[in-house]
Amino acid sequence: MGHDMRKITPPRYDDVYFNAMAKMDNDMKTTLGNDYKLVCGDCLDVMAEMADNTIDLTVTSPPYDNLRDYGKDFDAAVFDWHPIIKELYRVTAVGGVVVWVVADATINGSETGTSFRQALWAMEYGFRLHDTMIYKRQNPQPLNHNRYEQGFEYMFIFSKGKPKSFNPLKKPSKMAGKKRTGTMRNSGGDMLVKKHTGGRYSPTSMRDNVFVYAIGTEVHNAGGKHPAIFPEALANDHIISWSNPGDLVFDPFLGSGTTGKMAIHNGRKFIGCDIEADYVDIARQRIENEVTAVCNRGDDFTTTKTEKANGQIALWDMT
Ligand SMILES: C[S@@+](CC[C@H](N)C(=O)[O-])C[C@H]1O[C@@H](n2cnc3c(N)ncnc32)[C@H](O)[C@@H]1O
Repeated sequence: MGHDMRKITPPRYDDVYFNAMAKMDNDMKTTLGNDYKLVCGDCLDVMAEMADNTIDLTVTSPPYDNLRDYGKDFDAAVFDWHPIIKELYRVTAVGGVVVWVVADATINGSETGTSFRQALWAMEYGFRLHDTMIYKRQNPQPLNHNRYEQGFEYMFIFSKGKPKSFNPLKKPSKMAGKKRTGTMRNSGGDMLVKKHTGGRYSPTSMRDNVFVYAIGTEVHNAGGKHPAIFPEALANDHIISWSNPGDLVFDPFLGSGTTGKMAIHNGRKFIGCDIEADYVDIARQRIENEVTAVCNRGDDFTTTKTEKANGQIALWDMT
C-alpha cells in the first residue's frame, strides 16, 4: 500500500469541480459533486462545453436504432450519432478509450448494420478500432424469430491512439502450476521443440474478448424504470480494464446511471448526461447511494491496483 491513498469524499453541491465544465449553462439541470457531475441535456450540448482531450474513458450505449421508447424527449427519427462520435473523439484524452455497446434492430427482415456503420465512422473520425468485443447474454430473451436467438451485443473499443491504460482481467488458468513445455509451431505448421524454459504456468491467464453476463439485478436496483439498462458487471469490468483510480469517466447516454455507479465504486471521477430528466433522477439516486456506500467502505482504492498487480480476477467476474 502506501501509494495513491486518495479517498472518495461526499459530494459538495456548491463546488464546480471540473474546470472543463465551468461554462455549463445554468438552465441545465445539474448535480455538482466533488467526484461526479450529472446533467440533464443533449450530450452534444454537454460535450460542446468540454475542453479537448478531457475524458479518460467513456463507457456507453447509445439508443439502438428505434428498438426502445425512451420517453418524451427522445425522438429516434431525428437521433444522429455521427456528430456525437465526432465530438467524443475531440473530448477523449490522447490514449483514452470509448467502450461503445450496441446492437442492431431488424427492419424489413434485415439487420440494420448500424453498429458496423458506427464503428467504421468512428475510424473515419480518427479513432482506432482497438478491439471488437462481444457482450454475451447468459439469458437471451426468446423471441421466436426465423433466426437463432439474439445472444450477443457488440462492445467496440475505440481508442485515441494507443490506449494509455490496460489492466487486463484474468481468469483461473487450467495450466496453473504446470511446467511450461516450451513447444510451439513455426509458420509452416511444423512442431518446433524449444528448450525447456524451466518456468511454471501462473495461476491466472488473460480472459478472451467475449464477456458473459446475466441481466436482471440492475433492472431491479433501478426500480425497473429504465428500458435498457446494461449490467453493472459490464461497466465495472471495462472501467477496471481501461482506466485507473482518479481518472475521469464519461457516459453521454447516462440512462439509469450504471456507468456512473461503477465509476464511483472504483474510485474514478464521473460525468454523465441524459436527455430525459426522469432517468437523470434515477441515476442520481443510484450514484448517491454508491457514494455513501464507498464512504462507509472507506477504501483507498489501492486494493484495485494491488489486485491488478497480483493478477487477480475482477470483483464482478461472472464467467
Ligand atoms: C441504451 S440507453 C442507456 C442505458 C444505460 N447504459 C443504463 O445502464 O441505464 C440510452 C439512453 O440515451 C438517452 N439519450 C438519447 N438521446 C440522447 C442524447 N442526444 N443525449 C443524451 N442522452 C440521450 C436515452 O434517454 C436513454 O436513456
